[in-house]
Amino acid sequence: MDNQTRDDMISQLAQITPRYAYNCKDFVPGKSPVYYSGPYWDHRELEMAMKALLTGKWLTTGEYVNKFQNEFAKKFNVAHAHMMNSGSSANLIMIAALKKRLNWKDGDEVIVSPVGFPTTIAPLVQNGLVPVFADIEMRSLNFDLSEVAAKITDKTVAIFVSPVLGNPPDMDFLRDLCDATDLFLIGDNCDSLGSRFDGKLITDYYYAWSCSFYPAHHISTGEGGMVCSNDEEVINQARSFSWWGRDCHCVGSANLLACGTCGNRFDKHLGEDFGVVDHKYIFTNMGYNLKPLDLQGAIGLAQLEKVDEIDRLRRQNFNRVSFHLYKHVKGIRTVDRIMKADPSWFGVPIICDTPELKTKLVKFLEDNKIQTRNYFAGNILIHPGYKHLDDYRKYPNGNLALSHVFFLGCPPHYNDQVFDYIESVLETWV
Ligand SMILES: Cc1ncc(COP(=O)(O)O)c(C=O)c1O
Repeated sequence: MDNQTRDDMISQLAQITPRYAYNCKDFVPGKSPVYYSGPYWDHRELEMAMKALLTGKWLTTGEYVNKFQNEFAKKFNVAHAHMMNSGSSANLIMIAALKKRLNWKDGDEVIVSPVGFPTTIAPLVQNGLVPVFADIEMRSLNFDLSEVAAKITDKTVAIFVSPVLGNPPDMDFLRDLCDATDLFLIGDNCDSLGSRFDGKLITDYYYAWSCSFYPAHHISTGEGGMVCSNDEEVINQARSFSWWGRDCHCVGSANLLACGTCGNRFDKHLGEDFGVVDHKYIFTNMGYNLKPLDLQGAIGLAQLEKVDEIDRLRRQNFNRVSFHLYKHVKGIRTVDRIMKADPSWFGVPIICDTPELKTKLVKFLEDNKIQTRNYFAGNILIHPGYKHLDDYRKYPNGNLALSHVFFLGCPPHYNDQVFDYIESVLETWV
């Protein structure tokens, strides 16, 4: 088969997009679930994935991932980006890379919110660091900045921000605080791709940051994640840790260079006694294998072309969902955002006056096929896997996040039919 015939067949096959799940075009009110999120894909993502599968020689991380990393870095104003198989892996590897690069020691402390996603916090412990918790404040659900400042000790090395569903805290305050105390400001940006503060991307404030491409997030490669930094050495370490711990830093087609990008691929890397050793088999870290497939990079390239549209639609849909909700339901409120904050929303946070109201409203929405989500873990310290880290009772607002808060979706694929349905359901709320 010639290449043209192959490409034509791929394009035809890609037209068989599972329409409803990706774009709500076949939405049937009352029958179809209103998903809280989902991949915003069409034939382009499928076409790219099939091309990568059918033309790839090695299938794992290669030229498509390489290109996606470069394009992603350009789009989000950062010098270096390294893709891996999930956002959780990105957090794990970002912390390992920072620890190595910045000479952090076991027992050094990182200040985080106890409220949010578990794999923001677990990577700190998994890397021998100590998470020090600052309770949230109830207006924004982000960590309380005065408590953050009060938690700094001579062991603190970083402040780790994970904005609530895309809504950033006062980034200027955090930047100034870190500058004044010689701390690093780092971000779990899995929920906040495209969020801005004072006109800048919030990621401009971070020394290093992570991102997730799980289907619920702004852009999706099925599974996937990214670590980004302007410090090339952080990314070199991230690559090493996620590629078995190897020293070699050839990527994409550079893997095929006879002498490697270092020019000394076959050298006496382990000393005269052991003679010539291939650089690809020199291990400078105890690593993992967290590489994505090349088809995930190919899908990422198609998603990047939609990222501005997704950003615009998420902001617009946040307003539309909020409008219907607050028109019909009393006793709830959303989070405050500070003047300079300009969130690209992951979801619509809903703070209920009472736990009873949360229980009743969640049941009502779910019974009507409108998906809801818990505000992730609420206070992580209540959970069996984490309660040894600290006493959850010290973080009363974190506990309220579990009992009083949940969220609805505002994904880009909601259309007028979906909004009409949401409104018709909310009209029956008593
Ligand atoms: C804030 C945050 N961090 C990390 C993750 C983990 O990302 P992944 O599901 O890609 O592992 C999530 C997942 O939703 C998240 O919301």
